[in-house]
Amino acid sequence: MRLDALPVSFALSLFLTVDWALAAPGPRSQPSDRSLHVPILRRAPPQRSDTEWGIWAKQQKQFLEAKYGGPSTAKRSSGENLLVNQNADSSYYGSIAIGTPPVAYNVILDTGSADLWVADSSCSANCQGIQTFDPSTSSTYTNLTEPFSIQYGSGSASGTLATDVVQMAGFQVAKQVLATCDDFSDGLLDAPVSGLMGLGWQSLSSSGSIPFWQSLFEGNALDEPLMAFYLTRFVNGTNVADQEPGGVFTLGATNTSLYTGQIDYQTVDTTAYWTLTLTNLTVNSNSVTLPSGSGSSSLAAIDTGTTLVGGPAAQISALYAQIPGSAPGTGNYEGYYTYPCSTTVNVALSFGGQSWSISPSDFELTQLSDSLCLGGFFELSSSQSSSSSVSWIVGDTFLKNVYSVFRANPASVGFATLAANAQSSVVAAGVPTPTIGSVSTSVTGSGRTETNAALPSALPRVIALLISAMSASLLCVL
Ligand SMILES: *[C@@H]1O[C@H](CO)[C@@H](O)[C@H](O)[C@H]1NC(C)=O
Ligand SMILES: *[C@@H]1O[C@H](CO)[C@@H](O)[C@H](O)[C@H]1NC(C)=O
Ligand SMILES: *[C@@H]1O[C@H](CO)[C@@H](O)[C@H](O)[C@H]1NC(C)=O
Ligand SMILES: *[C@@H]1O[C@H](CO)[C@@H](O)[C@H](O)[C@H]1NC(C)=O
Repeated sequence: MRLDALPVSFALSLFLTVDWALAAPGPRSQPSDRSLHVPILRRAPPQRSDTEWGIWAKQQKQFLEAKYGGPSTAKRSSGENLLVNQNADSSYYGSIAIGTPPVAYNVILDTGSADLWVADSSCSANCQGIQTFDPSTSSTYTNLTEPFSIQYGSGSASGTLATDVVQMAGFQVAKQVLATCDDFSDGLLDAPVSGLMGLGWQSLSSSGSIPFWQSLFEGNALDEPLMAFYLTRFVNGTNVADQEPGGVFTLGATNTSLYTGQIDYQTVDTTAYWTLTLTNLTVNSNSVTLPSGSGSSSLAAIDTGTTLVGGPAAQISALYAQIPGSAPGTGNYEGYYTYPCSTTVNVALSFGGQSWSISPSDFELTQLSDSLCLGGFFELSSSQSSSSSVSWIVGDTFLKNVYSVFRANPASVGFATLAANAQSSVVAAGVPTPTIGSVSTSVTGSGRTETNAALPSALPRVIALLISAMSASLLCVL
């Protein structure tokens, strides 16, 4: 949805919805739960001859190679992908290459979902000006002939599942499942972005397939089992272009020139979203009371694909209660709060370890009038909170303030203090263009795999699309 479609008085328009269509076709019937029934009798070890052992060993190896993508011609490595900051911190995208010969596409990098999709060349609506993937030009494209559809509430994409070669940051997965989409609702795609790469776990994937990063992890192709982000800040800049240098995404390593000190890792609660429990929230050093006890009441999804920070109504209200002169928004601002721009708001979050400050520049989403500002923390509706496994969605408003690391093993998310010159060093390099680098590490990938019963039965997807009439920026919560 574009700005010019809105009445002038609608400075901001907000849509919050829950997406139930996330792949999960209802609770799956579980096969007999082997893990709960450990055989009590110890069997004698099987008697195998040397030849039988040899055959068994070979089969095991082939099985694992088929599952995880191959013999380790895959030397391990790491690589980086330079990001673009779109519309004053609304979204951050990187580039991948698909097909044979490879062609580069811009994709949103989203730790809050787990599917890879791109617009394809048969797309006819809502993809104007967008570079599309033409399956007929890739010799390695395989049509899985299975429909794909994902609902983001504010928009949807649908198409067909396929496998093809996908490359990023010097890595290649030969049989990566992706969706080629030809049908989009208005506003979902914002050129020059052609699609989205989900960096969540397989259990979150609509298609049930293994995400690109997870194929590399399971294929033992990463130097370190992690991915890391540094995201730039332009929200408080002047003369900000639609596209600015966005930061650095590193696969298989952290980039030590972008942070200082130790990375403070906290164990994730699930392996679907990257979730941490929010343990402390302060506003100008005053604590906001969070639901006591551990568990899901303060579970937060750490989500690079979300622009802002959403939380339960009671805690968001308590947060703004610490800011004199703040007031709940009405109409199109419902769920948001305004506050006097003269107040400097310092919010800090802690996830069990150290406390991380959000700069007042990030808390201030925008200035609505001479004296009134709009805050970057908003209420998730109660239906979202009650239906979702997460209570908080912690997006870029927070993530710009830290170096963030998504580690697969042990499954955890870590944050570190940014290097003082992180932004200047990245900005000096300019806005990156999608490039097809050389591949140094390759895994086969799994192609299509049936997922296990661990697939969450109904993980709602929370989407907010916020359109600012002043900056014409599009804020996405993906
Ligand atoms: C892939 O298969 C689907 C379902 O059979 C079909 O509708 C679609 O046109 C195919 N796409 C291509 C590029 O062949
Ligand atoms: C934007 O905010 C950051 C963090 O508070 C600050 O370091 C920077 O100087 C600000 N930029 C401008 C142009 O005001
Ligand atoms: C939260 O942070 C405040 C300010 O640093 C501190 O006084 C308080 O003890 C912390 N609360 C918890 C539960 O850690
Ligand atoms: C780390 O990031 C800096 C800043 O973008 C970049 O110049 C450098 O090449 C990166 N280092 C590695 C090892 O990727």
